[in-house]
Amino acid sequence: MAGLATEKPSGTAGGASPEQPLVVAEGVRKCYREANQQHEVLTALDLRLNRGERLALLGRSGSGKSTLLNLLAGIDQADSGRILFDGHNIGTLGEPARTLLRRRRIGFIYQFFNLLPTLTAAENVALPLELNGFAAGAVADRVEGILHQVGLSDRRHAFPDQLSGGEQQRVAIARALVHEPDLVLADEPTGNLDAETGAQVLGLLQGLCHNRRQSLVLVTHSLQVARIADRLLTLDNGTLRAGPEHLAW
Ligand SMILES: Nc1ncnc2c1ncn2[C@@H]1O[C@H](COP(=O)(O)OP(=O)(O)OP(=O)(O)O)[C@@H](O)[C@H]1O
Ligand SMILES: [Mg+2]
Repeated sequence: MAGLATEKPSGTAGGASPEQPLVVAEGVRKCYREANQQHEVLTALDLRLNRGERLALLGRSGSGKSTLLNLLAGIDQADSGRILFDGHNIGTLGEPARTLLRRRRIGFIYQFFNLLPTLTAAENVALPLELNGFAAGAVADRVEGILHQVGLSDRRHAFPDQLSGGEQQRVAIARALVHEPDLVLADEPTGNLDAETGAQVLGLLQGLCHNRRQSLVLVTHSLQVARIADRLLTLDNGTLRAGPEHLAW
């Protein structure tokens, strides 16, 4: 994001640097309006995520986990507070700059895969690279490499509806990681998989992120899944708390 102004997180000296957190959220508030009623989902939420850190995000259904991921990805905007990504205030970036930031530096793994049904597995994985202007040869090499890593080389020409749930999720992981983003946002990536496939997919995600020192925010309802993280936070009453203790699991 060359040429964009950076801001300092509160309580720090100097501008963005490799030592500073990759993501800083300060006093983030998000409301939804429904039938003239305000529904406050996030209230004064603070978060710091370091480079290479793996964070598990727990919280009951409807607590705002997906809402938070959408804000961190710049898909949606906070009503107040600010979110800094590598020093860039997402809230003050225009739509084109936010799209570029997301395209280049963020990988999003959606709960329900969100694969494009008319594209093959390989074409789905190639998409982020093509959007980022990679040359055809580099696209082919990278797609081949990551499909091999997720064990899907032989399914490269299959369309999403010809793939099992676990295979689709592995394509979704490959697509989220193929452009080597700094931040991976994973919204219940194992929520729809059986225990064995879930463990396999999780191991894959953990290994790929670890090798590339990518930061990971992993939304899950499972404490077992959350174990791969360095830190656990629970979203409750619109804000984040350390650990899962206060919730009955
Ligand atoms: N576009 C929207 N318009 C209105 N309300 C919304 C919208 N998106 C989410 N909400 C509401 O915001 C709250 C938080 O939703 P969100 O999807 O972030 O929860 P979640 O923690 O991800 O839940 P789950 O674990 O079920 O996925 C819910 O009450 C939801 O109904
Ligand atoms: Mg959700």
